[in-house]
Amino acid sequence: MFVRPTQLMLAAAGAALLAVATMPGAQAQDSVKIGLILPMTGGQSSTGKQIDNAVKLYMKQHGDTVAGKKIEILLKDDGTVPDNTKRAAQELIVNDKVNVIAGFGITPSALAAAPLATQAKVPEVVMAAGTSIITERSPYIVRTSFTLGQSSIIIGDWAAKNGIKKVATLTSDYAPGNDALKFFKDHFTAAGGEIVEEVKVPLANPDFAPFLQRMKDAKPDAMFVFVPAGQGGTFMKQYAERGLDKSGIKVIGPGDVMDDDLLNSMGDAALGAVTAHLYSAAHPSQMNKDFVAAYKKAYGQRPGFMAVGGYDGIHLIYEALKKTGGKADGDSLIAAMKGMKWESPRGPISIDPETRDIVQNIYIRKVEKVDGELYNVEFATFEAVKDPGKTKK
Ligand code: PHB
Repeated sequence: MFVRPTQLMLAAAGAALLAVATMPGAQAQDSVKIGLILPMTGGQSSTGKQIDNAVKLYMKQHGDTVAGKKIEILLKDDGTVPDNTKRAAQELIVNDKVNVIAGFGITPSALAAAPLATQAKVPEVVMAAGTSIITERSPYIVRTSFTLGQSSIIIGDWAAKNGIKKVATLTSDYAPGNDALKFFKDHFTAAGGEIVEEVKVPLANPDFAPFLQRMKDAKPDAMFVFVPAGQGGTFMKQYAERGLDKSGIKVIGPGDVMDDDLLNSMGDAALGAVTAHLYSAAHPSQMNKDFVAAYKKAYGQRPGFMAVGGYDGIHLIYEALKKTGGKADGDSLIAAMKGMKWESPRGPISIDPETRDIVQNIYIRKVEKVDGELYNVEFATFEAVKDPGKTKK
């Protein structure tokens, strides 16, 4: 007697569920989800904070709806641990059904997510990590940050042409440090320069002091330094404490060590450091002046180059969605991203359609005091620089 109503009820419930799942206007179809995986804690947390800030700023300025789709950001902190990155990417793809994964504060994190991007055909927008090989690890990876090769070849040539004959190198002992060292060395030594000392420091909690004495004893004309964003402040403090500034050993390198978010607190020891990089908060375009003013107003500090990678990464996703008319499957988005060109706060940039890597101007800059604050003042521009490390053209 009670069998019939129960069956009816079950059938009705089943039909209702099916109706929700197939309803054309269902929530999932009206939104595009972006899983933002960043080191909000751990050694590279300054990178995570800059990118999170920049993405929020961009969305405040441009709204949260694109091509009729509401943009939803799902932020996950990977704590600067690649295993966590992988787990976060897996959860975001499988449980949350995100359309894009983005962020990636360090190279090992970007690499850890690559097989998942390929398997799920989900675009991976790399907003920070800078080792050349990354974009070759999945056809779904696109990069809006930089490669260490782009800056390091340019500073290598510049050093050799500007009276620097002997260089000691200090690089962070993991993939981007090795790229920076290799590209610098190739160009500097080919132009007649000599490497007189080479040290590698651990990525996590490095103590530079013991290495700095060796640098000083080698009596180089300059010191080539790569440490990742966030470590420049500690490095420069120890450099000054050991008196390297007084002994005339200038810092040169890619611009990571002179990151704008720390530069002003480094003190006069940083004056005169010459680095090659993609972004300076002092870049003189109107777009950058507006960007710096808006970022400072929102967060009370200067944006650094990681913030710009995040700002451009979310812009790329917005523009790709406009181009596909809101179609958010991985293949459509990647096709739309290839060859995209736009003006960034750093200057003109594009996505190489062959390699999916960023093409951008690299500027040579010198640390100077402007209105009482330290800035990387750009004095030479190399236009539309591609990653020199790509094996495929
Ligand atoms: C990287 O891990 O790829 C990385 C991180 C911070 C930098 C540069 C490269 O400043």
